[in-house]
Amino acid sequence: MPDALAFNLNFLHPLLMWVLLALSGYALSLGIKAKKTRTAEPEQRKELIKGKFAQRHFQIGSIVLAVMVLGSFGGMAVTYINNGKLFVGPHLLVGIAMVSLIAVAASLSPLMLKGNLIARKAHVGLNMTLMTLFLWQAVTGMQIVNKIWTSR
Ligand code: HEM
Ligand code: HEM
Repeated sequence: MPDALAFNLNFLHPLLMWVLLALSGYALSLGIKAKKTRTAEPEQRKELIKGKFAQRHFQIGSIVLAVMVLGSFGGMAVTYINNGKLFVGPHLLVGIAMVSLIAVAASLSPLMLKGNLIARKAHVGLNMTLMTLFLWQAVTGMQIVNKIWTSR
């Protein structure tokens, strides 16, 4: 592969993932507002329901799910193209864990929509873990970016 193309590919995944981190933060804030709406007093609920927070959370959450799966496998593909192998390190392992977490969290949607409380608690727990790991992933990710940058 031409050198310049391979070099640019290196920055596609990090850029995409920073955008995804912002989008995940937005999904989180919509989720919190969805919960506020669900548990509000009838009077306040009438106002909050107009925000359609639950539907918007579901929509943005679905995008976050898709981009996380594609972005993660994309990162693996780029690493493989450049090195002919994957490096089994924290960034790879935490990345795999994150994809698993969000897949399971999303799979609880039908139960949550039926009002299942356990599914809801599990969804929030899984995704809070996800958000914490995401911050860690950004740190190790930038370390890899630095390594690629300085080794050229
Ligand atoms: C802002 C955050 C992130 C940055 C800056 C970042 C950066 C990077 C970089 C530079 C690579 C090496 C790719 C290459 O050789 O060009 C990489 C690989 C990878 N990334 Fe990320 N990444 C981030 C977030 C994520 C997230 C959220 C996931 C998964 C959910 C993820 C999963 C992976 C995987 C599986 C690989 C391939 C294995 C490896 O090279 O260690 N990354 N990332
Ligand atoms: C960025 C990751 C995510 C976070 C931090 C998050 C967080 C939350 C929170 C806090 C709630 C409110 C729970 C409650 O009402 O007690 C919620 C509800 C929900 N989430 Fe997520 N979520 C995320 C991703 C997703 C994804 C990927 C999907 C599905 C594709 C999804 C689907 C839902 C659904 C269907 C509900 C129930 C909404 C309702 O009450 O009608 N979420 N989420």
